[in-house]
Amino acid sequence: MYQKVKGTQDFIGLEAKKLRYVESKIRSVIEKYGYEEIITPIFENTEVFVRSAGEESDIVSKEMYTFLDKGGRSLTLRPEGTAPVVRSFLENKLYAQRNLNKFYYFGPMFRYERPQAGRFREFNQFGIETFGTSSPLLDADVIISGTEIFNALGIKNIKLKINTIGDFPSRTAYAKLLQDYFRNNISSLCRDCNRRLENNPLRILDCKIDKDNPVLKNAPKIDTVLSDEAKIYFQSVIDILDAYGVNYEVDRNLVRGLDYYTDTVFEYILDSNDELGGLAICAGGKYSDMVKSFKGPDIPGIGYAFGIERIIAIMDLQNLFPALETGADIVLIGLDEKAKEKTLLYANKLRMAGFYAEMDYVNINLKPQFKLSDQLQAKYLIIIGEEELNNKVLTVKNNTTKEQESIPEDRMIDYFKEKIK
Ligand code: HAM
Repeated sequence: MYQKVKGTQDFIGLEAKKLRYVESKIRSVIEKYGYEEIITPIFENTEVFVRSAGEESDIVSKEMYTFLDKGGRSLTLRPEGTAPVVRSFLENKLYAQRNLNKFYYFGPMFRYERPQAGRFREFNQFGIETFGTSSPLLDADVIISGTEIFNALGIKNIKLKINTIGDFPSRTAYAKLLQDYFRNNISSLCRDCNRRLENNPLRILDCKIDKDNPVLKNAPKIDTVLSDEAKIYFQSVIDILDAYGVNYEVDRNLVRGLDYYTDTVFEYILDSNDELGGLAICAGGKYSDMVKSFKGPDIPGIGYAFGIERIIAIMDLQNLFPALETGADIVLIGLDEKAKEKTLLYANKLRMAGFYAEMDYVNINLKPQFKLSDQLQAKYLIIIGEEELNNKVLTVKNNTTKEQESIPEDRMIDYFKEKIK
């Protein structure tokens, strides 16, 4: 028997409905903010991710599904959505049309991670990317939209953590400071961190292996090297969030695992004691240099991405899904071959008129046909036998009251329009 690939999932029936429900709720919020949908390919040239996320990031160094196609090109199943959107933004010269561009996307992402609660190898993200303006107002508005999405879904116990990793000069100074600090303590850090020391010391702060090591906890904080500009910028973001009443916690150790961030970074985590507690549900930040580093104009970007599986798991836990499975409006029952043919025609007339109508394709006995109507929780039954055929009528049974009546067949649609709203 074939089995699904480790870390992947089937979404069947109700599970698929939950995914689509979350999508449509999010869509209805984010479109009010002026975001347009963008759909990019599932795979890209590998370079798109290496150049943006950074060689040292976990994603690039160990998590990418990379392969050579038959033409010998190195391609990668997208591990995240930001780099593909930046690639498309530049390739299609979207910056030439408008000063501010706002995009959103839904879709599967792929990372070779160790599967566990809320962590998959194929997972779905909803993300946004905004290009064109560097303004604390935009940063705050992006964060507010994330908060409003949690509100629209009804999700509680979410904590917003926010930090600044500074502009480019601040980051460079911070990297130097960290390098000096960690060099003195390097023997107590993991092998990956030893390598990061020279290439990208900031990433040591994000190490999953050493995360509880006091050396990490006591590392110098970025405040000491932040430029005045970066400090003022961050303070403005915070002030606007305060004015809007967004709850947040400034976390000086939050650096994020991707190299492209500058200035504002943030994560929404689940603040609970269950197995999902502490997981990041949404994460993002500003990236001032990525467009330029893709050989484009000097245009800043900012965005975030939600993990949809994590949203679904929390909504299950917090009982937030409405009843998504609807029963059939009408099940049609045919008592002989000729009547069965008629039920198919009537079922389709009813469907075209907007009703959910179903029939048993095989049986002419009553018992299995009743069983189907029970399984589908049908509101009404239409029963057609020889007598009904001869008199051009239908026997209609209300499945709740169990009342039965005979109606002329040409009244069928009007009848159900009156009965089922
Ligand atoms: P990220 O933090 O790598 O950021 O992922 C964003 C979210 O995707 C996470 O907070 C989590 O909810 C979900 N996620 C990540 N990995 C997995 C996994 N293996 N299984 C299930 N869910 C997962 C980014 O991807 C950036 N592109 C976000 C961004 C957009 N920054 C700026 N714009």
